[in-house]
Amino acid sequence: MKNQNYINHLRLPIIQSPMFIVSNARLVIASSKAGIVGSFPTANSRTLEALDQTFTEITQALGTGEEALPWAVNIIISKMYARSNDDLELILKHKPPIVITSLGNPAEVVKKVHEYGGLVYSDVINLYHSKKAISAGVDGLILVCNGAGGHTGDLSPFAFVSEVREIFDGTIIVGGSISSGDSVLAIKALGADMAYMGTRFIATKESDATEEYKQMILDASATDIIKSNKITGVNGNWLEQSLKNAGISPNTGGIQSTLSDFKKMIMPLIKQKLKVDFDVSKATAKRWRDIFSAGQGVGSISNVPSVEDLVLELEQQYAKSKSRII
Ligand SMILES: Cc1cc2nc3c(=O)[nH]c(=O)nc-3n(C[C@H](O)[C@H](O)[C@H](O)COP(=O)(O)O)c2cc1C
Repeated sequence: MKNQNYINHLRLPIIQSPMFIVSNARLVIASSKAGIVGSFPTANSRTLEALDQTFTEITQALGTGEEALPWAVNIIISKMYARSNDDLELILKHKPPIVITSLGNPAEVVKKVHEYGGLVYSDVINLYHSKKAISAGVDGLILVCNGAGGHTGDLSPFAFVSEVREIFDGTIIVGGSISSGDSVLAIKALGADMAYMGTRFIATKESDATEEYKQMILDASATDIIKSNKITGVNGNWLEQSLKNAGISPNTGGIQSTLSDFKKMIMPLIKQKLKVDFDVSKATAKRWRDIFSAGQGVGSISNVPSVEDLVLELEQQYAKSKSRII
C-alpha cells in the first residue's frame, strides 16, 4: 500500500485504535471487514510466538500485499520496552499495511516499513513531537487530543489540528472522545482525514473487555472519567467507578482531593520503578485489567453491538449529521 488513497475507499474514515488488553485479532478482522481500519498493539500478545500467530490469523483473513484490506499494528519504540526489536522483526515478516508507532523516534521503523511499501503513522500529543515525527518521514500523524482513552493528550483538536495542518500535508488522524458518526464528520470539517476511535470499540461483541468493563462504559458519562498521571506515571483517563472498586474513592471534587488515596496506591508501584505500561507480562497489567481506562466519549455509548452493526450505526449518524449541516 504505497499511497494513502485507500482512505477514499473506506466505508468510513475511521481507525479502530489499538488498545492494551482490549484489541485482538477478532476485533481487527471485524473492523477491517466492516470497511474501517482495525488495529492492535503488539504488546497484547504475551509471547513472540503468540504475536506471530496473531499476524498469521490476520493476514489469512484480510489478505496480503496490494490486495490486503487495510489494517494496522501498534508498536512501542522505547528502550524500556524490551521486545521493541523482536516485534519489529515480526512486523517486517508479516508486512502489515500500516504501522502505528508510540513513544520514541520512528525513523528506523519508517525506513524499514517503507521498504516493503507500508505506511507509518505516529501518535503525538503536541507540536514538538509532531515536528520530530515529520522529520523522521512518517506518512501520518495521530493527534491524541484531550479526553482520549488510555494515555491522553491535553490539547483541544480545534487548536492542534490547525497547527499541524500548517506544517504537514500528510494524513492527519484525530483521537479523543470520538464515539459517534457526528464526531467523525466534525473532525473532517476541522481539516483532519481520519478519526481514531478506541473507547467506542471497547463496548463491542468482539472486544476482549470483560462484561464488567463494558457495563461500566455503558453506565458512565464524561464526568465519570478521571484524568490522572498517578496510575501509570503519565496522564491517562480512567473510569471513576473502577478506581472506587480498586479501593480509591475519588469524590466529585476531582483528582486533587484524592491525592492521598492515589499516593497509597502508587507507592508500591514507584518502588518497583515503573517500567513499561503496555506490557501484559509485568506487574503493571493490573492497572489496565482492574483499573479501566476510557475516554470522555463514554456518554454517547449505549449498546454493545457487533463491529459490523456499530459501523452501520456510525455510518447512519455520519450521513444524518451531514444532511443536517448542508
Ligand atoms: C483501554 C485502552 C487501552 C489503550 N492501549 C493503547 C495501546 O496499547 N497503545 C496505544 O498506542 N494506544 C492505546 N490506547 C489509546 C488509543 O489507541 C487511542 O488513542 C484512544 O482510545 C482514543 O481516544 P478514545 O478512547 O476517546 O476514542 C488505549 C486506550 C484505551 C481506552
